[in-house]
Amino acid sequence: MSLLAFNDVHALYGRARILNGVTFDVDAGERVALVGRNGVGKTTVVNTLCGVTRIGQGHVEIRGRTIKDLRGYTAAQNGIAIVMQGRGILPNLTVEENLLLGTATGRKGPWSLEKVQDLFPILRERRANPGLALSGGQQQMLAIGRALMANPDLLILDEPSEGLAPVVVDELAALLVRLGEDGIGILLIEQNISLIHRVAQRFYVLSKGAVAESGSLQNVTRDELERHIAI
Ligand SMILES: Nc1ncnc2c1ncn2[C@@H]1O[C@H](COP(=O)(O)OP(=O)(O)O)[C@@H](O)[C@H]1O
Ligand SMILES: [Mg+2]
Repeated sequence: MSLLAFNDVHALYGRARILNGVTFDVDAGERVALVGRNGVGKTTVVNTLCGVTRIGQGHVEIRGRTIKDLRGYTAAQNGIAIVMQGRGILPNLTVEENLLLGTATGRKGPWSLEKVQDLFPILRERRANPGLALSGGQQQMLAIGRALMANPDLLILDEPSEGLAPVVVDELAALLVRLGEDGIGILLIEQNISLIHRVAQRFYVLSKGAVAESGSLQNVTRDELERHIAI
């Protein structure tokens, strides 16, 4: 059974139709990439899951159950944690307070403040500093750490490599593969071909609000993927 599935989802901001029939799914423990260039509707997929857009047609399923009334908390309630594009760090809360926000759902699991700080020791060192005092790479660790605090079954990351130095992207790739191997499903929304290639097992290419291509990453070269994204 899929953890998350979009079935022919058409979605609108007001009257502006942005998604024109998006279909994809992510199974438990699977690492899937949703790729596409700027403006094709990638973030709108996340916003649709969060109930920001109106669904005109189609439906979203979580663990096989159709969710009619999607809200901002629906994902969290169902074990899906989202690392928003731009990270969504609360600048005036401390690093530790930002992390603790992730525990709001009260889900039990392997991740705790201690474990997240072991994974990212800088977040322990800087725990009393305001979120805004972190570098881009550290903010990304904080956003991922906060998501892990929710002990999710599925982690959605919206362009996590944005603004990161290549060496930090390398670390991110290794981390996402490891989390996947630990059983967390990963939906990686990205344009960074190298990151996609290193992390994902399957991909969907979004173009003009619909899935234009999909398949296994084993059967597609970087050049082919680059060409798909350029559609
Ligand atoms: N709140 C909004 N209201 C109306 N249109 C929007 C809104 N947010 C994004 N859009 C439009 O939706 C399209 C898809 O945007 P987005 O999902 O952010 O793309 P991506 O994440 O792939 O770069 C763009 O044309 C964008 O201008
Ligand atoms: Mg986006």
